[in-house]
Amino acid sequence: MTSIATAMTLLVAGTHAALGAEQISVLHWWTSGGESKAIRVLKDDMDKQGYVWKDFAVAGGAGAAAMTALKTQVMSGNAPSAAQIKGPSIREWADQGVLVDIDKAATDWKAQLPAQVSKTMQANGHYMAAPFSVHRINWLWINKADLDKVGGKPPATWPEFFALADKFRAAGMTPVARGGQPWQDMTIWETVALSQGADFYRKAMVDLDQKTLTSPQMLQVFQIVRKIQGYFDKSSTGRDWNLATAMVINGSGGMQFMGDWAKGEFANANKQADVDYICAAAPGTSNAFTYTVDSFVFFQQNGKKEATPGQLALAKTIMSPGFQEQFSLYKGSIPVRQDVSMSKFDNCAKKSFAAEQAAIKSNSFFPSLAFGDLQPSATAGAISDVVTHFMNSNEDPQEAVRKVAAAAKVK
Ligand code: BGC
Repeated sequence: MTSIATAMTLLVAGTHAALGAEQISVLHWWTSGGESKAIRVLKDDMDKQGYVWKDFAVAGGAGAAAMTALKTQVMSGNAPSAAQIKGPSIREWADQGVLVDIDKAATDWKAQLPAQVSKTMQANGHYMAAPFSVHRINWLWINKADLDKVGGKPPATWPEFFALADKFRAAGMTPVARGGQPWQDMTIWETVALSQGADFYRKAMVDLDQKTLTSPQMLQVFQIVRKIQGYFDKSSTGRDWNLATAMVINGSGGMQFMGDWAKGEFANANKQADVDYICAAAPGTSNAFTYTVDSFVFFQQNGKKEATPGQLALAKTIMSPGFQEQFSLYKGSIPVRQDVSMSKFDNCAKKSFAAEQAAIKSNSFFPSLAFGDLQPSATAGAISDVVTHFMNSNEDPQEAVRKVAAAAKVK
């Protein structure tokens, strides 16, 4: 037996060597429980196709640390085969002349992707990025046992939200589980902005319209955020998002504002939607949809301007229906491909899909500013700095409004 097994191993190794198995190095920031399970599906698929996966996972929610690592790798001439880049940054990287296009893999993408996502994946008429899935940002996650204990219901308005938060506090829980990192604070701020209505979000965040940015509604956004802050616990500074989610999973925290990768954590802890936790659209946002779409871009390897077979296989696999389904089941998202059946998904994903389709029709399917899907990195960064400062100081909301309008002019 042993000798047969050994012979088989040698044979397989020999085949790989004969084919000169291509190594694919992949830089990403999917390191939490749910995230790792999801990216492993891709690794296993590539392994099966005979490629050698080299993993560069850089911990840190929303990818700030990963972006720093990527810049260092590219500058030192060690660009990975693929890296997690999204939104307008795809074009920014393409303009540097360091990427390869993956048109050969993108045979049916135009027909299968929401139009605005398809556009974001391209630069100068070529597909430069392969999209994974659609994450809805404007969610509120609530521990169901806590909710039942205080006799509450998912809040549809801000007054209802604050009434529920008071009940959670009176029952000894942390009402809002929060991780104090800039991107998590941006998530809350952006979601409150969305609650002012689709028109407000479009004018303020998409058009960066000065009149809207300095309007009484924007003042209200900062005032609501200030009030939400009163419901955080004292140790939230610097906390990772998945630790905040863990508080809602174990019931020490009542609710969390977070994109639906949080659902990947609930699923990884064997918790069920509607039984152990509730996913509700954040107050005032049930008819709108802010999204982030993760994607991989592909870097030139060995100075060649064309994608390698491994890069094309990777792009093709990411957009294949089977992968799209399994990845999203683990990740908490919904497939970005429009022809994947939702039958295996839970109620949260089904709600997300219905909301996505409705929002596309009503023109309220919005790229997220907080996650880099909407504005160039310089503009998004300047706005994020204002929000971070506001959340970590006693700054007057009126002053924050003035600063955010100025930050929106940064190009
Ligand atoms: C990504 C998600 C990821 C989250 C937390 C976001 O920027 O789009 O895929 O789960 O960061 O790490």
